[in-house]
Amino acid sequence: MSFDLVLFGGTGDLTWRKLMPALFQAWRHGKLPADGRILAVARDERSDDQYRAFIKDKFCEVDASKRPTDDEFARFAQLLHYRRMDLAQPEHYAGLKQWLDERGADVKVFFLATSPHLFTQICAQLGSAGLNGSDVRVVLEKPLGHDLASAQEINRVVRASFTEAQALRIDHYLGKPAVQNLTALRFGNALFEPLWRRESIANIQITIAEGLGVGTRGDFYDRTGALRDMVQNHALQLLTIIAMEPPANGDADAIRDEKLKVLKSLKPFTAESVARDVVRGQYRAGNVDGKPALGYLEEAKVPEGSATETFVALRTEVQNWRWAGVPFYLRTGKRLGTRDAQIVVNFRPVPHAIFAGSARANKLVIKLQPEDGLELHLLAAKGTGNNDVLTPVQLDLDFDKAFAADRVGAYERLLLDSIAGRLNLFVRSDEQEEAWRWVEPVLDAWRNDATGPRPYAAGSWGPAAASALIARDGFAWDEEL
Ligand code: BG6
Repeated sequence: MSFDLVLFGGTGDLTWRKLMPALFQAWRHGKLPADGRILAVARDERSDDQYRAFIKDKFCEVDASKRPTDDEFARFAQLLHYRRMDLAQPEHYAGLKQWLDERGADVKVFFLATSPHLFTQICAQLGSAGLNGSDVRVVLEKPLGHDLASAQEINRVVRASFTEAQALRIDHYLGKPAVQNLTALRFGNALFEPLWRRESIANIQITIAEGLGVGTRGDFYDRTGALRDMVQNHALQLLTIIAMEPPANGDADAIRDEKLKVLKSLKPFTAESVARDVVRGQYRAGNVDGKPALGYLEEAKVPEGSATETFVALRTEVQNWRWAGVPFYLRTGKRLGTRDAQIVVNFRPVPHAIFAGSARANKLVIKLQPEDGLELHLLAAKGTGNNDVLTPVQLDLDFDKAFAADRVGAYERLLLDSIAGRLNLFVRSDEQEEAWRWVEPVLDAWRNDATGPRPYAAGSWGPAAASALIARDGFAWDEEL
């Protein structure tokens, strides 16, 4: 199969930081279809060779294990081309069409790695230029809108030129091997399914903690905040996979239909429940990994006195037969003590204790990063002393070790899937809109609440109110146990 992959935003951060290294890895692993071209599009004038030199330079800034040797780069660079385009000019799209038509590749993928305010313009222009045939797919990077209305507007314009199956919305968490493993854990194994319900599960905790602050993205981040940046997409996608019903088959729409049902079953927020069940925080100066870290308000490009949240913890419920009454706690933040993403499924304790220590319940920890693995926490008799007292033990599975050689990174997976037309790991427009619909009351309530975010020290686990939120139900965050 031959392909042309066009990267709008070809000189931007996302392209050289994530997409080029991922494409290079796919090429290095022999997974990229051999007959392909990658065309970077941006505003300034450059030749193909100048663009290749630019990308070669940028590879020095990526992880050493993902860097090409000179010889590898020389071969990979043969795929790379560059084209100057003014995105407002119809004749530039006509020129692009001509360039693509001359070769007539089987598949054309337009990856919009640009600022999101250009999405509607680019999609409309591609449509008008006739660059929307059935051999075309368009890939949209987040953020897709900043609220429900803006997301709907983007989807409306995209739909005017492309069918739903042609529009691939990226949530890069879905491309992570650990997240695909979650689907495998639930639907490739019979073991947990009978327990995966309210009768056996006490609560579920989803944490995506980051050690880094906002870095150089202060202006973007300040307009976004943790709720839009992480909860509306990554955390909710994880929740849908944890909570969904088994799909009828492995087809993209069968899976996405089930995920959508979960989003529709989430308990809607009201102004009162936001005040009670959602905690927002903002980091102050502190220490991360033994090094002093600035507070959010001191970061570059963050406006003075900003009330943007860098931390969110919330409690919700999935209102259906399987999950009624089971609290789901979601938590994410920047400048927390460590980079750590995990889902903890806390089972109910035994109904009647005959051993001392058996009040401690079982739990399954699904580790997403930095390690990708599973821990099953059980209780055992040591056999060395008093066997009436049980000891916590755990079964550990490290997927990075088990599958080391073959692991494919998130963007590599998603780029390959976009070329192959596999839609399972992309977000459908109705899922994305439903997620916006659910977070909107939180955004509204915060807008009308002058209290602002609660401060927390960089390097901590967020504001104390996040612990109080979960303690109210008689539970604790996993690291507090
Ligand atoms: C992005 C957010 O979507 O995900 C960033 O915009 C965040 O703010 C990043 O840092 C986290 O991704 P990962 O893969 O490093 O967990």
